[in-house]
Amino acid sequence: MTIIDKTADVPAPRGSDDASGPLLEVRDLHVEFHTRDGVAKAVNGVNYSVSAGETLAVLGESGSGKSVTAQAIMGILDMPPGRIPNGEIFFRGQDMLKMSGEERRQIRGRKIAMIFQDALSSLNPVLSVGYQLAEMFRVHQGLSKKEAKAKAIALMDRVRIPAAKERVNDYPHMFSGGMRQRIMIAMALALEPDLIIADEPTTALDVTVQAQVMDLLAELQRDFNMGLILITHDLGVVADVADKIAVMYAGRIVETAPVHEIYSRPAHPYTKGLLASIPRLDQKGQELYAIKGLPPNLLHVPSGCAFNPRCTMAQDICRTEIPALRPVTEQDGTELVGRGSACHFWKETIHG
Ligand SMILES: Nc1ncnc2c1ncn2[C@@H]1O[C@H](COP(=O)(O)OP(=O)(O)O)[C@@H](O)[C@H]1O
Ligand code: SF4
Ligand SMILES: [Mg+2]
Repeated sequence: MTIIDKTADVPAPRGSDDASGPLLEVRDLHVEFHTRDGVAKAVNGVNYSVSAGETLAVLGESGSGKSVTAQAIMGILDMPPGRIPNGEIFFRGQDMLKMSGEERRQIRGRKIAMIFQDALSSLNPVLSVGYQLAEMFRVHQGLSKKEAKAKAIALMDRVRIPAAKERVNDYPHMFSGGMRQRIMIAMALALEPDLIIADEPTTALDVTVQAQVMDLLAELQRDFNMGLILITHDLGVVADVADKIAVMYAGRIVETAPVHEIYSRPAHPYTKGLLASIPRLDQKGQELYAIKGLPPNLLHVPSGCAFNPRCTMAQDICRTEIPALRPVTEQDGTELVGRGSACHFWKETIHG
């Protein structure tokens, strides 16, 4: 059986260092893990970009390569076993993969900051939150103890931690999950980065708290005109905050679209399945749809379209030929800006 991979010839604009170009541009990124059981190809030719003031949501089930892509951008990938055999990651037009360790460190935290799902394991349990925030200002901006503490309190206020002044000496475990996540956001904001990568920032929280934290993140992103990459497995949380979406499956982007269009007109069966599995208030009591099966083990990715064993639309070609991410058009051929689908049957999916 011949497996044809046409995904490599997807056109993408180059990174740019002028102010109007994207802040960050990932180009044909590949990441693999060399394990005892074989090579897991976790990221297979990912392209995406984010501009200042823009929010990109990266969506997909667990194991699709979302976090690994983020780790490659941050320069915090486990290497080994991880390896980047190919790709470019432009930040303001400069390929970070070609930078020295010191140059990367200058960007990490100051220019690009990251927020993780689990604040408890990211914050130091034996230091007060005020100390940890103040430390950022002391180390990176050379502020005095007193100045740094004042800035820490101001920042806790900014992320709306009630009674920040009284709570500045409290330890992480003394805060609720939602409040801890606000502290993580404050830590990420401290040095006023250009770009924040939030990896499942609300996944561990209750639904109502989730919405509050997401709203706060969106508000700060607007106020500071930052770029934001919001990684999530939950299509339900991105509607109000993201500008555009990249859907990932088995290490590839399978659909890209401006956010409002993905809800009304998905062009990939996987996205369609994800949309159908969002709980809806008007369907209370009805059984929730779930895409059958599980995402593949990356050591044994199905041939052709990796989604084919789970896809209700799969045909023979789906088992032999990897579909490239192609532009999605209207029925009359008019291009839909920012839209792409990696499905042999995208036309049937969106127009059918
Ligand atoms: N440290 C590692 N060692 C080996 N394989 C890894 C490692 N980290 C990630 N992987 C592989 O990469 C895949 C994608 O991981 P990840 O990007 O974390 O998925 P997600 O989309 O859930 O964030 C995993 O399913 C696993 O196969
Ligand atoms: S290429 Fe085939 S298997 Fe893959 S999503 Fe499209 S129809 Fe389904
Ligand atoms: Mg992840």
